[in-house]
This record gives sequence, C-alpha cells and structure tokens, in this order.
Amino acid sequence: MVALATEYVIEVHHWNDSLFSFRTTRDPGFRFDSGHFVMLGLEVEGKPLLRAYSIASANYEEHLEFVSIKVPDGPLTSRLQHLKPGDPIIVSRKPTGTLVLNDLKPGKHLYLLGTGTGLAPFLSIVRDPETYERFDKIVLAHGVRRASDLVFAEYLEQQLPRHEYLGDLVREKLVYYPSVTREPFHHRGRLTDAIVDARMSDFAGLPPLDPGTDRVMLCGSQAMLEDASALLDGRGFQASPRTREPGDYVIERAFVER
Ligand code: A2P
Repeated sequence: MVALATEYVIEVHHWNDSLFSFRTTRDPGFRFDSGHFVMLGLEVEGKPLLRAYSIASANYEEHLEFVSIKVPDGPLTSRLQHLKPGDPIIVSRKPTGTLVLNDLKPGKHLYLLGTGTGLAPFLSIVRDPETYERFDKIVLAHGVRRASDLVFAEYLEQQLPRHEYLGDLVREKLVYYPSVTREPFHHRGRLTDAIVDARMSDFAGLPPLDPGTDRVMLCGSQAMLEDASALLDGRGFQASPRTREPGDYVIERAFVER
C-alpha cells in the first residue's frame, strides 16, 4: 500500500483550454529528488483516484507544484481542473522516478527534452543548484503543438534568469529552446528533428550531440521517447539500465492518460 497524505491547494493557473498547473502545501517532512514524480489525486466515491504527476517545483521550495492536462471525460482531470484554493488533494508519500541526475554519468552538457507536460520534471531540475554544479551548459527544450502550450515560458525566459540565488548561473548556463509544431513560431518543428539537423545545438552554441560530452533526459509521449531513444542510440548513447548504473541518458513517460 502506498502511504498517502492530504495537502491543500494554494493556487491554480489555467494556461489554455487544455493545460493548467497548481500549487499545494508541502509537508515539511516530504523529501524528493528533482525530477521525481508522486501519485496524486482526489477521493472519488470514497476511494483515492490517483495518477502519476511529476513534481515541477524545486526541492527546496515550501510548496509543491504540478502541471496537468485537462481531459474532458478523464476520470481524474475532469475533476482536477476544477480545483480551487483550499481544496484537499491526496499526495503519495514516496516520490520516485528515473529522471534524476544521479542516474547520469558525468558530462559537460545536459539536454532536457520534454514534450507537452513532459516539461514538468525539468522545471524542478533547472531550479536545482546541483544541476549547475554538474554541467557547464543545460539545454531545456520544450516541444509542443501550439505556442499557448508553452507553459512557464515567461518564467523561464524572464524570471528565472533574475532569480535571487540562481540568476547568475541560469544566465551563464541555461539555454531555453521552445519549439512549436502546429503553428508559426520562431522555433518550428519536433525536437528530434532539431537535434538531427543540429538546429538545437547550434542555437545553444554547442557541437552536435555526442555521448563523449553530452547527457540527455527525455520526458514525453511513448512515440517521442521511442524516436528520441533511437536517435540517441544511433549516435552511441547508452540508456541508464534498470540496474541503476549511470548512463548517457534517462527516459520517463510523460503521464497523460488521465
Ligand atoms: P506533432 O505536432 O508533430 O505531433 P503531444 O501533445 O502529442 O504529446 O505532442 C507534443 C509535441 O510533441 C508536439 O509538438 C508533437 O509534434 C511532438 N511529438 C509527437 N510525437 C513525437 C515524436 N515521435 N518525436 C518527437 N516529437 C514528437
């Protein structure tokens, strides 16, 4: 049995008709690694209805933050999207997941490739000072269908570079690469294509992806994970195996069936 706790909603932000994010209280004893997910949900007909959600907030913040899609007939998100401040929410006590820095070998450049809500774990990772200790350059790429799906874009472009403690490191090391596939935007196309034709690495001022120097974290749909893994495998990258040996890249499904 998963141990469960009740937290309370602090704030809800609706980004567009299909995406929202929300903050909740955080038990001071609740610890997680940047990139981890929890089981989260609501009590429905007397039983907890839970889904996996990556934690988007930094591990030193007093609140927890999550990003969610809205599925009109989704058992959980059809309810979750109506959350209001003060509402109770169930959060599992044992965070877990594969998108953790410790599962990567040392390297120079870290590529964080997220599509859709797959951005969420990386929002935590780019706010972790340890990320900047381990890598010289961090490329945070977010691939979405529509420009309005680029949640936290303004935060990543404007606010994080001015962050009280992390701002200097962020300005020196973090490159944000948002890309839109289904409408005009300054970066167009799938993240995998931007790697193949080196648009992404060029934009970051880096050479094309190479397992000798680069480490990658992937979070997206099954199709995106398969294509991106095949691309990396083809370049000689090794996925972190199940035995938890550090590898050149790690992957996790963005949780979307709601
Ligand atoms: P596209 O519009 O070409 O399908 P989704 O919401 O379906 O998860 O998609 C989020 C983003 O991920 C979209 O920009 C989508 O592009 C892109 N995407 C979907 N499948 C893949 C894939 N196999 N490889 C790379 N990007 C993908």
